[in-house]
Amino acid sequence: MIAIGSDHGGYELKQEVMKHLEARGFEFKDYGCYDRKSCDYPEIAHMVAHAVADGHCERGILICGTGIGMSMAANKVPGIRAALCGDCFSARMTREHNDANILCMGERVVGPGLALMIVDAFLDTEHSEDERHHRRVSKIEQI
Ligand code: RB5
Repeated sequence: MIAIGSDHGGYELKQEVMKHLEARGFEFKDYGCYDRKSCDYPEIAHMVAHAVADGHCERGILICGTGIGMSMAANKVPGIRAALCGDCFSARMTREHNDANILCMGERVVGPGLALMIVDAFLDTEHSEDERHHRRVSKIEQI
């Protein structure tokens, strides 16, 4: 199960991402926002981050205007490794090396075509089995 959320600045892209997830057969839960009315991104980020940290969802996707506020807020929740990605290479690497569990994107930064490719790279890549990456991720958790 994938937890997804956006503020008003990421609302349009979230609709595209949800269509894409549906087409790919992924189950997802939409934590809002549910219209284009102005709202506060930390509230959505915390709901999605807790859904992932508490084990209700395996991964999360958060979208705001830049993706920055969402990533800052999500990373405050213990156990969350939220990665702001604007390219496919970073999306793949953050899964392989950092075992990122939330993908953040900025609707005002990436176009819908690239965003869907970033989503695919994030969802289709597993964490590396290499010991050094596991060791480093554990060290993030100890901070
Ligand atoms: C909302 O105007 C905007 O600040 C928000 O979508 C996001 O970009 C924050 O980081």
